[in-house]
Amino acid sequence: MRAKPKMAIMISGTGSNMEAIISSCRNGSLDAEPVIVISDNPSAPGVKKAASRGIATFSAPYGKGVPREENEAPIIDAIRRADADWIVLAGYMKILTPSFVRAFPGRIVNIHPALLPSFPGAHAIADALEANADITGVTIHMVDELVDHGPIIAQEEVAIMPGDTEDSLGARIHAVEHRLYPRALQELFHEDV
Ligand code: GRF
Repeated sequence: MRAKPKMAIMISGTGSNMEAIISSCRNGSLDAEPVIVISDNPSAPGVKKAASRGIATFSAPYGKGVPREENEAPIIDAIRRADADWIVLAGYMKILTPSFVRAFPGRIVNIHPALLPSFPGAHAIADALEANADITGVTIHMVDELVDHGPIIAQEEVAIMPGDTEDSLGARIHAVEHRLYPRALQELFHEDV
């Protein structure tokens, strides 16, 4: 691994985790370089934020009825052209195919707003509230061919308070994510140093 690993960050929405990662690179606490931000949604607010921070962006909207592998092909090309060492999923809402995962073995990381294996899927915060759980949290994990699955790198608990809503709990989860993700990436990228 080169001294300053290159990251492709994949997003679909706000991009607040992406921003936390970029800020950590800029302040030196994460020794890595964001070389490209990829989105399946060209109008995702995170795409604008990345561009305004001077990072190359690539939008790849998925065609309806098009096989997922075909939709992913330009993304794989963009990652290879950017020469990225790592693929950092930060709110990327499409499920990656096994062939995408196999194209970058052991090189894809994801963040999930729950303590996996509890509450996998796209509605983890709502699901934890619905289940009347006392505790949920944040998981950072390597991506394997199953959804929200793979070796766990870091987890942190977040208590669910009486009266919590998706917004109030989501805000506390995001605050943990923004601190935990850059730190976990730093350890992952430089664990052999
Ligand atoms: C985060 O809660 C992350 O755990 C999940 O998607 C959300 C993305 O939020 N995978 P943001 O776009 O980084 O604000």
